[in-house]
Amino acid sequence: MKSNKTNLLTLGLAACAFFSSPAVAQVIPASTADKGTGRAAWLDEAKYGMFIHWGVYSTLANGEWVMNRTKIPVAEYEAMAAKFNPTKFDADAWVAVAKNAGMKYITITSKHHDGFAMFDSDVSDYNIVDFTPFKRDVIKELKEACDKAGIKFGLYYSQTQDWNFPGGEGSKWDDAQKGDFQNYIDKKGIPQLKEIMTKYDPSHIWFDTPHGMTAELGHRFEGVVHDINPDTLINSRLMYHGNKIEGLKEEQLEELKDMGVDFLSYRDRSIPPHSPWEYWETCMTLNGAWGFNAKDNNWKSPKEVVMQLVEVVSKGGAFLLNVGPTAEGIIPAPAIENLEAAGEWLKVNGEAIYGAQQTIFDGKGDFVTLSAAEQKALDKEALATGAGKAKKGHQQKDYAWLATGRKGKLYLHLFKWPSEPMVLHGFDKDQVTGAHFLADPGMDGVKFSQDGGTVTIELPAKPVDDLCTVVCLELK
Ligand code: GLC
Repeated sequence: MKSNKTNLLTLGLAACAFFSSPAVAQVIPASTADKGTGRAAWLDEAKYGMFIHWGVYSTLANGEWVMNRTKIPVAEYEAMAAKFNPTKFDADAWVAVAKNAGMKYITITSKHHDGFAMFDSDVSDYNIVDFTPFKRDVIKELKEACDKAGIKFGLYYSQTQDWNFPGGEGSKWDDAQKGDFQNYIDKKGIPQLKEIMTKYDPSHIWFDTPHGMTAELGHRFEGVVHDINPDTLINSRLMYHGNKIEGLKEEQLEELKDMGVDFLSYRDRSIPPHSPWEYWETCMTLNGAWGFNAKDNNWKSPKEVVMQLVEVVSKGGAFLLNVGPTAEGIIPAPAIENLEAAGEWLKVNGEAIYGAQQTIFDGKGDFVTLSAAEQKALDKEALATGAGKAKKGHQQKDYAWLATGRKGKLYLHLFKWPSEPMVLHGFDKDQVTGAHFLADPGMDGVKFSQDGGTVTIELPAKPVDDLCTVVCLELK
């Protein structure tokens, strides 16, 4: 894929004592350019998506790994699948939640590691239509609802892990799982991928946990996708686990590009300090779980959601935020409330998010460089709150402010309110031509002055929005 080198908006922070004494920062804004018109361009515009982990496992309300963790025999899990009956499922209602949240795409589990297909599969009758009393193709219904609402629709597919089909990857605790991996690939993995590509024409395929993948197999999966639709995006988990991405060598990244991979999927719940690729994604849980977990009520607040979204966008990525619906087909109410509150903020401040570009500033978003002691403390806290073992990177930073930009604009996202004027250095002479709150486009409220390369911004005593106030600087 053609790689358009983006001109970055470079924001170097020199002083850090912003909000106690005068807010002083080194800012070196440059022009930003679009990332181009390649097949992944929509992801750069979209920025924010809904991840949905939903399947038979939701019945046990204990996450999507429950079959593996508690070593449920295949026959027993199948018996549970045979009763799966999510009568409260309403595709339009789910898509409306995503839409009100300000999300522009959805990625849903079409088949997770448990091997159960949430779509009408001719390849295997271990699927929601043939195997359950519900008999409805929820993937088809969601695809139609997304098309109606103008939301991109993508499918998660666990390409090699399959705890149901003999020979599928993953630890084995039941004789019924034993078999030949190649046979699983030929009889299920490849044919089902063809099926979901043909039946639902997804905007992207989200591969995961590439146990047993080889370059040859990677090309085979990629070929299936792009022979059917050359515009469908593929994530890097086709070949590499999320936790491997930051350690990849340049030639491995090149190999991924050559293989037709479009965007990097970082480690679960982690925001990288920066990314070597122009298209990448952080996947995040809203509580601590992917699949529905009844015990986990550790929901991120709307402010935390917005802060993480802004951080990702400030580094050039897209943010995929998860919900885990119940076995009845309900998205938990606290999840909806918090997403909607963040969505209200986006209605006002979306200009600084959708299609916005990264800024670079050192010493900030180092989510993934926790010391062993910090990690231990985090795990302890997570266990105490019922969120399970915390993954490295799960820590929320408490930013005072972050910045995004686009051609001619610099957006300052203020999460804390400065008691003194903000002083920003590094601008070109007379570069700032205006300043206003996105919540108040009338140019009132923000006073600025520029002296050489230094811009001083005076703000009123109170924030416009306690969640996050966005100041837009107009740049020449
Ligand atoms: C991990 C888990 C999987 C989950 C995924 C989400 O790879 O294996 O259960 O779907 O993370 O990113």
